[in-house]
Amino acid sequence: MVKIIAVALPKGGVGKTTTAVNIATAFALSKKRTLLIDVDPLGSCASSLGFTREGIKNDIFNVLQFSASLQKVILKTENQFLDFVPVKQLTYFDEVRLSRILTNEQLLGNILRHKAASYDYIVIDCPPYLVGPTNAALVAADSVIIPITPGQYALDAVQKILDRLKTIKRNFNRHIKVEGILLTIYEYNTKVSFATKKELFKKYPNLIFSTSIPKNTKVGEASIHRKPVLIYDPVAKASQAYLSLSREIIQNRDAFNYHSPFGE
Ligand SMILES: Nc1ncnc2c1ncn2[C@@H]1O[C@H](COP(=O)(O)OP(=O)(O)OP(=O)(O)O)[C@@H](O)[C@H]1O
Ligand SMILES: [Mg+2]
Repeated sequence: MVKIIAVALPKGGVGKTTTAVNIATAFALSKKRTLLIDVDPLGSCASSLGFTREGIKNDIFNVLQFSASLQKVILKTENQFLDFVPVKQLTYFDEVRLSRILTNEQLLGNILRHKAASYDYIVIDCPPYLVGPTNAALVAADSVIIPITPGQYALDAVQKILDRLKTIKRNFNRHIKVEGILLTIYEYNTKVSFATKKELFKKYPNLIFSTSIPKNTKVGEASIHRKPVLIYDPVAKASQAYLSLSREIIQNRDAFNYHSPFGE
């Protein structure tokens, strides 16, 4: 059965896109049939996978507007186990229209469960805010990866998404789980990293992935070469960490090993 994982936090620059692209790549390298979907109107995933804007004719929002089928917008990647659904750059008016369509919260989930059920994993890269596309992704998802960088603002954003998840669970999607909180762009031996980790373990002891993703210059180099770091340099520290994260998630799935932040 397909498992839908959203990568989300209402804060910019915490490694959501890097995590979505590399975790999807890691699943595909483990021969799991994987679909990566970009729902951030900025559309950064495409560039990370080597696609140019000109190569993108239709996108996930065409699917939500019923002007294209999901099959029609799926792009094949170099890895036979990894498919991709992109986002075109949206105008202001596209975004306004989209927010109207997304008031139907169940639409994305219904389309994915009916038309993409043959995948093992669907990974959704969300924008840095909760309304609209992120809300739709969380209503559609089985679980959410919450990436955070060290610092107080990211901790505040974690509480914000957990509060939102509580409401979504109550009203729209009672199956949603926290896959895990992921420390990214992590610098060992700094005071702020240590303090953030300590605070996270105090507040959410069962929700933190064992794996964290180190700060690694290879990630930036890979994006200039329009490749996931896992493909650009498979032995880089960040690549190895994303592989380890994928193993953690696959094992959690096999073991049904989830912890709920909602006190159940
Ligand atoms: N492990 C890492 N080491 C070093 N740099 C990283 C790492 N992960 C991500 N970055 C860099 O940090 C920046 C932000 O990453 P990314 O785009 O993945 O974040 P995001 O949360 O998706 O941002 P946005 O909210 O704007 O969509 C990028 O320039 C990326 O190359
Ligand atoms: Mg992003």
